Amino acid sequence: MTAVPVVTIDGPSGTGKGTIAELLAKRLGWHCLDSGALYRALGLAAQRRGIDLDAAEPLARLAAGLRLEFRDARVLLDGADVSALIRTETAGGAASRVAAHAAVREVLLDWQRAAACPPGLVADGRDMGSVVFPDAPVKVFLTASPEERAARRYKQLKDKGMDVSLPALVAEIEARDARDRGRAVAPLVAPRGALVVDTTSLAIPEVLDRVLAAVRRVFPG
Ligand code: C5P
Repeated sequence: MTAVPVVTIDGPSGTGKGTIAELLAKRLGWHCLDSGALYRALGLAAQRRGIDLDAAEPLARLAAGLRLEFRDARVLLDGADVSALIRTETAGGAASRVAAHAAVREVLLDWQRAAACPPGLVADGRDMGSVVFPDAPVKVFLTASPEERAARRYKQLKDKGMDVSLPALVAEIEARDARDRGRAVAPLVAPRGALVVDTTSLAIPEVLDRVLAAVRRVFPG
């Protein structure tokens, strides 16, 4: 599919995928694809246009014309910075609803694959290793206990100054994960051959070390 080296990092929310993907990309000097931001921005764009989140075809058309840019650490939708807006758990729920449609995912495939540019790509999401980059030489799947994942998301959102309640967050995360695991197309699964890391009691540098060791076995650079 591509000669550009790709490392995929998948897993449910709150496992540290995004953080590890960013740190790893920085360490390797590679590009980083936050595929969740794509679904989050699409959910936001749909809500702004009053498009039903269950309407596959209108959503797929919207996805095909989505004006989305990743610039530095910012996400621009129709030229405006939506980085903070797409990070709420409500935006996560909308993302998970639009992400359940096969037609939507199909449209976004090329866009995601085009992110594989030299010198390499670290891609994080739910189906990076199973569907988008099935030939990636290094696949990682991060897990953590539900309690730990909710606590991490709570801290993350609080640190961003958002008003969140822990019980509501737990319920939203559970609903989102159940939808992501149970959907018919590209469900959340550990890809075959993936390095599975339970991050429940690991600090970020420890997770990074394990992932980096797996990457170095394949790309000794
Ligand atoms: O990773 P993040 O929490 O930003 O993803 C938001 C939602 O987008 C997920 O709950 C999932 O439904 C969807 N998603 C997906 N496939 C990906 C990345 C995200 O379905 N590769």
